[in-house]
Amino acid sequence: MAHSSCVTRIPSLTRSCLHRSSPITTSLTASLPRSQRQQTRFSSHAPSSPSLAARGQKPTTIQTLQKMHQEKSPITMLTAHNFPSALIAQEAGMDMILVGDSLAMVSLGMPDTSEVTLDEMIMSARAVSRAVNRSFTVGDLPMGSYEISPEQALTSAIRMVKEGRMQSVKLEGGAEMAPAIKKITTAGIPLVAHIGLTPQRQHALGGFKVQGNTLDKAMALLRDAKAVEDAGAFAVVLECVPSEIAEEVTNALKIPTIGIGAGNKTSGQVLVQIDMIGIRPPDAFMPKFVKKYGSMWESGLAAIKQYKDEVSDRSYPGPQHVYKSDAKVTEAFRAAIQSTQS
Ligand code: KIV
Repeated sequence: MAHSSCVTRIPSLTRSCLHRSSPITTSLTASLPRSQRQQTRFSSHAPSSPSLAARGQKPTTIQTLQKMHQEKSPITMLTAHNFPSALIAQEAGMDMILVGDSLAMVSLGMPDTSEVTLDEMIMSARAVSRAVNRSFTVGDLPMGSYEISPEQALTSAIRMVKEGRMQSVKLEGGAEMAPAIKKITTAGIPLVAHIGLTPQRQHALGGFKVQGNTLDKAMALLRDAKAVEDAGAFAVVLECVPSEIAEEVTNALKIPTIGIGAGNKTSGQVLVQIDMIGIRPPDAFMPKFVKKYGSMWESGLAAIKQYKDEVSDRSYPGPQHVYKSDAKVTEAFRAAIQSTQS
């Protein structure tokens, strides 16, 4: 799809479009004069982002997110698991795009997140990274890729950055993960922590349950939040926590909290894209905190049913979808077939 539009719009760039650059970057770059294309590189190490410059936009950085936090401007984060979902999330203006290990359940059909591997997460992250040049990207480290030792955690984080092309990583756990968080962040890899309901530990937690809902548990949550902040995390996801507790934890931290099922007083929000745009069958379980902003299941289903009907009654493809042969070629071709048959 993307490459055919490249071919029709900018034939002279077809080769580079297909083989080297991202389709979005290339199609927008093509409209810029050559001199401007070169000027958009900010330093010898900064990747050129001409499409952003053309739109008067800048990439979101850790500093952008910190400034938003200081100014109490809510940070928006959404998951993406492949190229088109990343493209649409960025187009909608998401500050952060998370390649979450929710990939396992909502995109790969696994029963829980424990099955997905680092290699699978990296493949998903690579696809997302090809679409994104403005939002700040976060790659989830899956279960088994970071708990054994800080060294293992750093090795996996490096793979997520080098191979997955993510700008930061996320891992689940609080105070007990502080040595791993320190190891990763002191190596120069930004990290988002994830506390409260940590789905990778669902069996230890007894299922997907609200966390921090007693005084002791709320105190433990706060200790975890402080520990991951002290270890170097630049943000922390709070999942399934009562809103009042999440608010107090947010107020007690210097780093932003990104809530999911944690009320509207956290520094930002994250949702799983497939849930919120509604690419789920009507009977799929949906947690209380998910708001369905769209009904992609219904519109997708209607489109596919119409395609089936139109193929069945031969109204698709219509005249506008077909390539026509030269009449003389067709005639000669038919004659040639006839002569081989006689
Ligand atoms: O895996 C994921 O999508 C996540 C979010 C729900 C925060 O961790």
